Amino acid sequence: MGKVLEIKNITKYFGNFKALDDLSLSLNEAEILGYLGPNGSGKTTTIKIILDLIRATSGTIEIFRKSSKNTNLTHQYIGYVPSEPTFWPNLSVKETLHFLASLHQNYDLSYQNELIKSFDLDLNKKVRELSRGNRQKIAIISALSTRAKLLILDEPSTGLDPLMENIFRDQIIKAKNNGQSIFFSSHILEEVDALCDHVAILKKGKLIEYGSLEKLKHLRASKIEASFSSDNELPKFNNISGITNLRYDKNKLSLNITQNENLVLEQILKHKPIRVYCSPTSLEDVFLSYYQKD
Ligand SMILES: Nc1ncnc2c1ncn2[C@@H]1O[C@H](COP(=O)(O)OP(=O)(O)O)[C@@H](O)[C@H]1O
Ligand SMILES: [Mg+2]
Repeated sequence: MGKVLEIKNITKYFGNFKALDDLSLSLNEAEILGYLGPNGSGKTTTIKIILDLIRATSGTIEIFRKSSKNTNLTHQYIGYVPSEPTFWPNLSVKETLHFLASLHQNYDLSYQNELIKSFDLDLNKKVRELSRGNRQKIAIISALSTRAKLLILDEPSTGLDPLMENIFRDQIIKAKNNGQSIFFSSHILEEVDALCDHVAILKKGKLIEYGSLEKLKHLRASKIEASFSSDNELPKFNNISGITNLRYDKNKLSLNITQNENLVLEQILKHKPIRVYCSPTSLEDVFLSYYQKD
């Protein structure tokens, strides 16, 4: 598999403020990378450097093995959805799409028309009349219609309602199956969980986790909840490692566990529970725990 994007040791200062700290990551052909991080962690800064809209303080980026600074070469490979799409307020949606189409050599008009229908976009409205979500649709439709080998999407589902979010996801999967690579930033964990092969988690400009989604899923815990009849003694879990958030509440208990689930369950069963629930903690729990610990 060929490398589509290779970011090497990027550091970015804004004055004395270090927005990105020695960032390295890469993206292969037909791969989706979810770029996660809370607000202000440096996602948009990274994307602007990839696009050469701003320059890094140090480090290099290659897009299809060419320096990202050669925008005349690299941009023919890129479809881009900015984090805050702004268009000409007095143009209609139709005129806007027509203009955006003229910027790309391989723009696929029939695919564009299919997308306009799927996203239910009204072509006759003026851009100034559009809601945030409908402006977002223009940006998504024009980026997808380039059929670019590399799609760079900065929080692309901002403003989309759940129905449109699903349509967006379907199209991203289609793009991947079509051999395109997708780099998208998000703070919506569920979306990343649903779409990505690889995940990079950024915190205050530093990459704190990077790998396949599968690998990160191992960080997930199981949640176990059990209830007992009121005269039963509740189990204790001394000497069992991997337990967090252990709570006792009257005749119920709940805990999170990353290992030794069988020992915990054995202990619970000895105390004759009325009910036991086991469920995976969400990816969200994993990320929240990252963001909260300092
Ligand atoms: N042009 C700029 N000048 C100074 N600071 C900036 C500039 N652009 C971004 N920053 C700062 O860099 C950090 C990362 O911002 P950004 O990349 O937009 O984060 P994200 O997209 O993850 O929300 C923030 O603290 C932001 O205030
Ligand atoms: Mg941003």
